[in-house]
Amino acid sequence: MNPQYTPEYFEQLKDSVVWFEDGSLNMAYNVIDHNIEIGNGNKTALIYESEDGKTTEITFFSMVRKSNRIANYLESLGIKRGDRISIFLPRIPELFYIFLGIIKTGAIASIYFSAFESAALKDRLQNSGTKVMFTNKNLLARIERIKDDLAELKNVICVDDEEFVDNYKAQPDNFEIAHTQAEDYAFMLYTSGTTGKPKGIVHSHYAIIQQIASAKLSLDLRPNDVYWCTADPGWISGIVYSILSNWALGITTVVYGGRFDSEKWYSVLEKHKVTVWYTTPTAIRMLMAKGEELVKRHDLSSIRFMASVGEPLNPEAIIWGNKTFGKFFHDTWWQTETGSIMIANTPKLGIHPGSMGKPLPWVEAKIMDDNMEEVVVNEEGNLCLKPYWPSIMRTIWNDEKKYESYFKDGWYISGDKAKKDEKGYFWFIGRADDVIKTSGERIGPFEVESVLIEHPEVVEAGVIGKPDAVRGEIVKAFVVLKNESLASEQLKLELQEFVRHHLAGHAYPREIEFIDRLPKTRSGKIMRRILRAKEFGDPIGDISTLEDY
Ligand code: WT7
Repeated sequence: MNPQYTPEYFEQLKDSVVWFEDGSLNMAYNVIDHNIEIGNGNKTALIYESEDGKTTEITFFSMVRKSNRIANYLESLGIKRGDRISIFLPRIPELFYIFLGIIKTGAIASIYFSAFESAALKDRLQNSGTKVMFTNKNLLARIERIKDDLAELKNVICVDDEEFVDNYKAQPDNFEIAHTQAEDYAFMLYTSGTTGKPKGIVHSHYAIIQQIASAKLSLDLRPNDVYWCTADPGWISGIVYSILSNWALGITTVVYGGRFDSEKWYSVLEKHKVTVWYTTPTAIRMLMAKGEELVKRHDLSSIRFMASVGEPLNPEAIIWGNKTFGKFFHDTWWQTETGSIMIANTPKLGIHPGSMGKPLPWVEAKIMDDNMEEVVVNEEGNLCLKPYWPSIMRTIWNDEKKYESYFKDGWYISGDKAKKDEKGYFWFIGRADDVIKTSGERIGPFEVESVLIEHPEVVEAGVIGKPDAVRGEIVKAFVVLKNESLASEQLKLELQEFVRHHLAGHAYPREIEFIDRLPKTRSGKIMRRILRAKEFGDPIGDISTLEDY
């Protein structure tokens, strides 16, 4: 066993965060206010560029004051510790200081990706029992539609509403930060699994200690960096590495509010002289597809370190990165549940193209078979980690059973298949379950299927991830119609639009196939494994539990 294995390891790092005198710890204090004490007050915390190219800069001082006003505003609404307060906003500056303001009060902050439509929001908001929700006028209708189903929701605030803005501005800009315990809950984020509704993954204030350590080690952040993590804070990387760890380290952070666009992305890198860049394989492949001419028009010499996360980083993308930027993309592996990077090609370790790298010094990782026996070198198995570490999820909101199902024989089971080579490098193989990764975003097939069957022409639907050269995977739906004769290209478009409209723009099936019936187990569960085998032309395997196929 690694002698430095957590939590002993983090005992040594205890002083890397600031504890209040009574032994309490608040994540938001460490992320933002602490910067004032170490002389970063006038330093730029956020460089925000909107889609139309307007740039706003916010200093650490200003971030402190803005988040304090939010905290005071929330207290004026009667918010108490442990209440769930939600953010449903696009990438705009308000999102960042509202998130920190919530955590300052001791309430639990959560962010909902702005692409979510009403059906996705309803499940998540109902489960979390959100009391207060921050959104904007543009997105408000999606909440209005489901408001009657959200018994615990008291206030819906539009950040672009004049009354709110006046009220917010009138709030004092100092605030007595809640003296939360290290183990108290700070934020939660919904993510998808194979079955059932999305899971509310809950993280504690103590996570910050490991988030800081991992950012230092894997992203090579240094005080004068200009850092850009392209993830939206509706996903875990956008929270942990675009709000928490980076600001706790006092790093000037770029946020681009617009959609992906190669030309725009290169200008953001150039204009703000980005030095450290953390992005996804899909984005890299999309840039690759646009060719080198575009890159050559920009001076990107400021870039010192590049990293990638969320899905397998193919060696071609690494080679292209090196040819184009003169630097390697460093792959990192982690999950919403792990709360920080666990396996990485750190700068010290260097690059091993195609491998996720090695476990960070405080991580003990093993490849095990289904009986929890370690497999031999280079053999495929389940990627398991030794719990507990500071940033591991503390619970799954309202679903302790699901939380417990992640652990077996003293190990955390990640749900990924991987192998370890003779040098100790880990190689990703695939998911052990039916979770889909499209453009690095995690999608549960069950959610897409549930929306599809709401369509009047649909009897049932089975959804899988289909490999895609750019997006890693795309969502593919097999649909059984009430009336087969209605099968048409037109109906496919209609079903796609239906999912977009009810669930989310990023989760719709890019491919639909009409099918007579779905393969199912005797107990009626859809066998997505069979759908995948059918799609890939693979042998179908053991079908003894099939109903009749
Ligand atoms: C799943 C977790 C954005 C933060 C991490 C994503 C896949 C993650 C890699 C990688 C291959 C990866 C895994 C994992 N994944 N990183 N470097 N190589 N696959 O968090 O959305 O909770 O997804 O993403 O399947 O289990 P997430």
